[in-house]
Amino acid sequence: MQNDLFIRAAFSQQTERPPVWMMRQAGRFMKEYWDIKNKYSFLEMCKTPEIAADVTLLPVDLLGIDAAILFSDILVTAEAMGGELSFTQGVGPRFANPIRNEKDIDALSIAVEEKLRYVADAIRVVQQRLNGAIPLIGFAGAPFTVLSYLVEGGSSKDFKLTKLFLNNHPALAHKLLDKIATVTITYLNMQIAAGVNALQLFDSWALALSWDDYQEFAHQYNVKIIAELKRTGIPIISFCKGSSVFAPLMAEARPDVISVDWNADLRRIKQTLPKGIAVQGNLDPFVLYADQAVIKKKIIQLLERMRDEEGFIFNLGHGIMPDIPFDNVKFAVDVIKEFRY
Ligand code: CP3
Repeated sequence: MQNDLFIRAAFSQQTERPPVWMMRQAGRFMKEYWDIKNKYSFLEMCKTPEIAADVTLLPVDLLGIDAAILFSDILVTAEAMGGELSFTQGVGPRFANPIRNEKDIDALSIAVEEKLRYVADAIRVVQQRLNGAIPLIGFAGAPFTVLSYLVEGGSSKDFKLTKLFLNNHPALAHKLLDKIATVTITYLNMQIAAGVNALQLFDSWALALSWDDYQEFAHQYNVKIIAELKRTGIPIISFCKGSSVFAPLMAEARPDVISVDWNADLRRIKQTLPKGIAVQGNLDPFVLYADQAVIKKKIIQLLERMRDEEGFIFNLGHGIMPDIPFDNVKFAVDVIKEFRY
């Protein structure tokens, strides 16, 4: 691989500067994304390997980041299981058949490999085009976060239905989580076989859970998934909003990297982790709306704070918002790439 900064940092090896990529880098803040999006629906884009590859490579060509992330969505596993998924502008993801009872759970399939073949195909197209320039990150949603969409029928502010379901029907919740975990293992192993160089597990909404509920309904499934991947040489990143709190538990699952939200002092988190677990993060993405002098100052502050820490990947604490100016994102990437330890 020509540029392996990301892989080296993910395995806690020394790098001359931190690698940089950004969550939601393959998305709507780029005019070039809209040129494609205006012609196809989001799911059509995900399911057409050539288009998914085009979008995956946009930030590679336009931003010069150190790792690509496959253009797809965490909810494609739930769709392959039988969730009737649609994405509507301004509404976000919707499931027309939300999970309400045991019958709904029993109706979900765990035989997803054939239905998700388009993801493996997209990975192969991307890798052919990347031709070893930089690593490609595959990903999946973690069971708790995927369950929340299936139960709420879409996005939620407070996860009221999800928590009601966990509290009143824990056995059903575990039945559903177990099915999603099984599918996630199959799916990630399929991505490895298709040629991804790294993986990220997105447990985006773990922040909604108490410590005990995180252990019971999120953590144990993430442990199982990470343990069952066939992934020699392929680092796995564990992400959640709430990682500033849950990092000690996340570390027990033995990911190579923990991706940290923007609340924490990243250096302090790093120093509390077992040796050999790298960190990724953790600029507040809202900084990228600010004046470029401010962006530069806050980035340099973070880079300096992590100066003597081996195993640091620059990222945001969560995804880029669609209306962040492209020039600011490009400027941020350039500031990081010019930095030297
Ligand atoms: O990071 C990347 O650029 C790779 C592609 C990617 C997308 N979604 C594309 C996308 C990744 C890694 C995801 C993960 C994802 N999807 C997560 C976890 C990451 C996070 O932000 O915590 C979650 C929670 C989802 C579920 C999801 N998908 C939501 C809530 C939405 C709507 C968001 C919104 O602001 O409207 C999506 C749609 C989605 N996924 C878009 C993209 C580019 C927008 C689709 C469009 O063009 O309208």
